[in-house]
Amino acid sequence: MLPAVARGAVPVAGLRWWVLAVAAGWQASVRAVAAPWGAPFARRGLGARRPVGHSAGRRFGRHAQQCVQRTAAMPPANRGANCKISCYNGNSGFAVNAAAANAHVGRLIWKESLIMELRELSIDRIHRAFSPAKEIQNPELFVGRKEEIRKGMAALMTKGGFLAILGLRGVGKSSIAYQIKLIAEGNDRLPKLLDLARFLPRKRFNYIVHYIRCDNFVRDIPTLLKRILFGDENNPSLFSLTKAGERQALEFKKVLEAQIGGNIIAAQASVKGSEEIRYAPYISDDLIGQFRQVLGMVTKDNWQKRSGLLILIDEFDIVENKRGFGSLIKACSSDFVKFGIVGVGTSISELISDHDSVGRQANIIHVPLMPEHELVHILKRAEHIVGRAITFDEAAQLEIARRSEGFPYFTHLMGKETMLLAFHRRNSLVTLADVQALFTTIVQGNLPTIYEDLYHRAVGNSTQKEILLKILADELQDEIYTKPAYALARELGIKNPTQAMRDLERDGIIIRVRDRYYRFSDPVFKVYARLRNWKE
Ligand SMILES: Nc1ncnc2c1ncn2[C@@H]1O[C@H](COP(=O)(O)OP(=O)(O)OP(=O)(O)O)[C@@H](O)[C@H]1O
Ligand SMILES: [Mg+2]
Repeated sequence: MLPAVARGAVPVAGLRWWVLAVAAGWQASVRAVAAPWGAPFARRGLGARRPVGHSAGRRFGRHAQQCVQRTAAMPPANRGANCKISCYNGNSGFAVNAAAANAHVGRLIWKESLIMELRELSIDRIHRAFSPAKEIQNPELFVGRKEEIRKGMAALMTKGGFLAILGLRGVGKSSIAYQIKLIAEGNDRLPKLLDLARFLPRKRFNYIVHYIRCDNFVRDIPTLLKRILFGDENNPSLFSLTKAGERQALEFKKVLEAQIGGNIIAAQASVKGSEEIRYAPYISDDLIGQFRQVLGMVTKDNWQKRSGLLILIDEFDIVENKRGFGSLIKACSSDFVKFGIVGVGTSISELISDHDSVGRQANIIHVPLMPEHELVHILKRAEHIVGRAITFDEAAQLEIARRSEGFPYFTHLMGKETMLLAFHRRNSLVTLADVQALFTTIVQGNLPTIYEDLYHRAVGNSTQKEILLKILADELQDEIYTKPAYALARELGIKNPTQAMRDLERDGIIIRVRDRYYRFSDPVFKVYARLRNWKE
């Protein structure tokens, strides 16, 4: 009797044709369709492994699904009987057969729909699902960090004040900063996703956000001020936020030119570093005064309509000479104007020497290493983006999370590479073996990444430098004491470890923290250097 099969078999509307296929002799049709794909699925044991974990009541009838689950949990000898008892207790023999058929059809439907999804999956969805090289901008791809985002939202609620986002390199600071920028501008997607919407003000935030990213041209605070004032490729000039706008910008440039006798346009992002130095002495109180004046104009023209002006400065740690920043913040913050910095560091004093002036108004968000369950979540989010046409089995997920050592960069990198591999092989499942194979490729230096380039740059052809690099990378502490490291290096045959260290410092691999203490400028590279095999 057909309805018994149809009742639980196909809840997914798009697959109802399968019911008809069942009536018309489902076994034949399934075999015909599945045959070309059968081998890879059989090899990976997909049919046996997936239905129980994957179900969620979507791919096939709930009844059939329960039956499959219970059956899977039983010793093989009892399976038929148990299925009878648990699923169709008291039903006729036909119903029992129907249930078994139902479950079987469900499995095949599930396989078939996977095949269809895999065929339809376009490779750019995989590229969209991972972002190893860039901070997360799309809230849909942002994972975890609930507490950090909540703190950021709380900082936006307070008038004026100062925000700092601190943490190790590569831990996810810019991603958090970018999400705070979006929230400040009124985007409530992430608060909703993280169940934080209740922390939003009733009238949404509508900050004007100036998100500046420092680079090697921003060597000191005066240059930074000019960058904020005149804008860059991503930000309009502050003057454009005032009613008089461009006219004022021109006047202001004239004033500065008169004061410093040079062309202020050269102060923009495209300028060469050497020219910047020429302007440095002229920052003086005048520039701060002018800056305050412009902020005053922006405030006057916007305070009724906007929540405030948030000037968010990313990569602040790059600025070589940060002198005067604390007093600048103190002088320029107001109920309307809020500053924020994002940078590598464990405390605010590492980034702002005159931090006392910032003092109590600071909201500080420390970003820790990402916990493993959040790293796993990055993979699950990616599965969702590709419509679950390719998924990671549980062991693969855990292995990627464990190997990432708290750095989401590695999760994105390994997740993306293994998923691409599965895509090329037309597999719908990434397994532990796939992850281990990729890991071997990485440690052998066969996956081209920025870190592989950096490894070559760091060690060149010098075995001595490679030995020292490995010794330093093996150190568990973030700050590395040179005495034991040099002693070990000498034991291993390095005649002049101090020179090798100087070379690593010159190349920007290692940073001197204080006398005899160094640390890696990029802790992700520290992990990479530790894991990578020796150069041949
Ligand atoms: N919450 C998150 N969810 C998913 N991926 C994340 C998250 N945070 C960071 N990532 C990923 O981790 C990597 C590093 O992130 P990000 O650039 O934000 O770190 P960072 O601390 O600013 O690094 P740096 O110190 O180099 O500036 C990127 O690949 C990013 O896509
Ligand atoms: Mg960053």
